[in-house]
Order: sequence, then C-alpha cells, then structure tokens
Amino acid sequence: MSCSRTFDDAARAKDYVLSQALPIVVKADGLAQGKGVTVAQTQEEALAAVSAAMESRVFGAAGDSVVIEECLSGLEVSALAFTDGQTVVPMVPACDYKRVDDGDEGPNTGGMGSYSPPGFVGAALQDTIKRTILEPTVAALKAEGIDYRGVLYAGLMLTEDGPKVLEYNVRFGDPETQVILPRLRSDLFEVCLEVARGRLDAVTVEWDDAAACGVVLASGGYPDGYAKGCTIEGLDELDDGILAFHAGTALAKGRFVTAGGRVLALVARGADIGAARAKVYANVGRVQFRGVHYRKDIGAREVTP
Ligand code: GLY
Repeated sequence: MSCSRTFDDAARAKDYVLSQALPIVVKADGLAQGKGVTVAQTQEEALAAVSAAMESRVFGAAGDSVVIEECLSGLEVSALAFTDGQTVVPMVPACDYKRVDDGDEGPNTGGMGSYSPPGFVGAALQDTIKRTILEPTVAALKAEGIDYRGVLYAGLMLTEDGPKVLEYNVRFGDPETQVILPRLRSDLFEVCLEVARGRLDAVTVEWDDAAACGVVLASGGYPDGYAKGCTIEGLDELDDGILAFHAGTALAKGRFVTAGGRVLALVARGADIGAARAKVYANVGRVQFRGVHYRKDIGAREVTP
C-alpha cells in the first residue's frame, strides 16, 4: 500500500519531509493546471515545493494544503469512464506526457501530447482496472449518497503490485480526450444523454480499432512565462484527416493568434500508433508561431526503432 499524508501547516509538512525516504512527491492539494506536482529527488527540492505551495502560494488557494506521498514507479495510464452512478463504461485507455521536454525531462505541464491505445494495457488489465478501481469508486460515491453522473478519470501508475491510483478527476482528461474521442464510434450525445438519464446500461459504447496520436504545440517559454498574440501560420496546410484542437488561440482581425501556453493539439489517426505518429509529425512542422515548441517523442515508446 502506498503512503500519503496531507498537511495544512507548512512547518509540519517540512518536518514530515525530513523524516521520509527519497524520492518523495509533493502535491498542491487543489487544482493547479497540472503544475502542482513535484517529484523531489532531494530534501531541498521537497522543502522548496512545500514552501512554494504553502508560503509563496504560487498556486493560490490550491496550495492551502499539500499532499506528501511515497514516490511510485511504473508506466502511467489514464483510465476514463462514463458512469451514470450505477453502470461504468470504460473509455479506451490513453497515455499523456506531462513533462515539457523529450525523455520526460523538464517541469510538469498541463500535458504535451497523448496517444491511444497504449500497447501495455491489454484487455485483462483493462478489466482489472474496471473491476478493482472504477466500479468500486462509483459504488463508494453512491454509498456516500453521491449520485455521480458523468466522466470519471483515474490517473494510474502500473506498479509491480498492480495499478495504483495517483489522482481522480471528475471530468475528461486533457490532452487524452483529444485522442480518445476520435476513436469513439458511438454517438457521444446519446451516451451523455443516457448518462444523465441514469440509463447507461441501455447503450452499447463502441470504439474504433484505429490508433490516435496527439502532439501539443506550446508557446515559447511555456510552462513558465510566454508571449501572447503571436500570429499562427500554416493551419490551412494540414493534411486531410488531421484534427487541430484549439486551446490557447484567439482570433485577431480574422487571423489566429496565440492566447495561452498550450496553443494547439494536432491529432492523427492511423492503423497503429506508428502510423498515427508518423502522420501527426509530418504535420506539426507546418504550423508556425514565434517560439513554438513541442515534444518529438509522443508515442515513440510504442514503436520499434
Ligand atoms: N492529463 C491530465 C489531466 O487532464 O488532468
């Protein structure tokens, strides 16, 4: 079992850090745009993370308390599901890439890309995740009197001891959704309608076998400070079938300009991850704005060199 403690007092949090083995994880216990987690390799890093969240308040009220956790190791997967509070229908699994640079280097971001399906999450593991994590969670919500209907998102780490929950979100994942929903063959509206009606058992949710790979194009400097208002060129040069999800864009005098850190996600579908990845990377270089940067290794681990 993994070990986790929550603190609303910085001094106590720091004392706890000093008593723990390394590496250790410090999380702002609120929404921090995906940037509130520090995997500290040293006590100095962990103490600085506590101080940043609780004393400097870089995440605002999200840092009123911090969670300090044992560091788990393994591959990460995002397991999302539709639920009407009773029935749980998992979506296809996906992986996202949180660090800004290739090889999982650099600071955490809101997500620099994603792909689906991960080859290391087979049918048996998906069934285990449904039976041992997603369904018991919805049952526990119900037992607490919460009639939760919507999307349940479990961020998991696949450890030697099986899948462990790193976080829950009660929403879709970003950027996972950009590669999950293009694989949905059923009508999303009908699925959502039955979720809301409490009749999810009445629909069959079908998925395409095709893979999807998505790459986020970010503003220069992101996840730290970045410029806005830079003209975006090349969106009209994308191949047919490439999906361009606008995140941090705005229209100025009829032209798209940057308006956020993660500007766009380009997504391609293909017979497998290799094909989807080749298609998306053939397109990312065509979109240009000042300082644009993106990871070059989204989905690479699924492809034999
Ligand atoms: N991809 C992480 C999230 O949506 O929270």
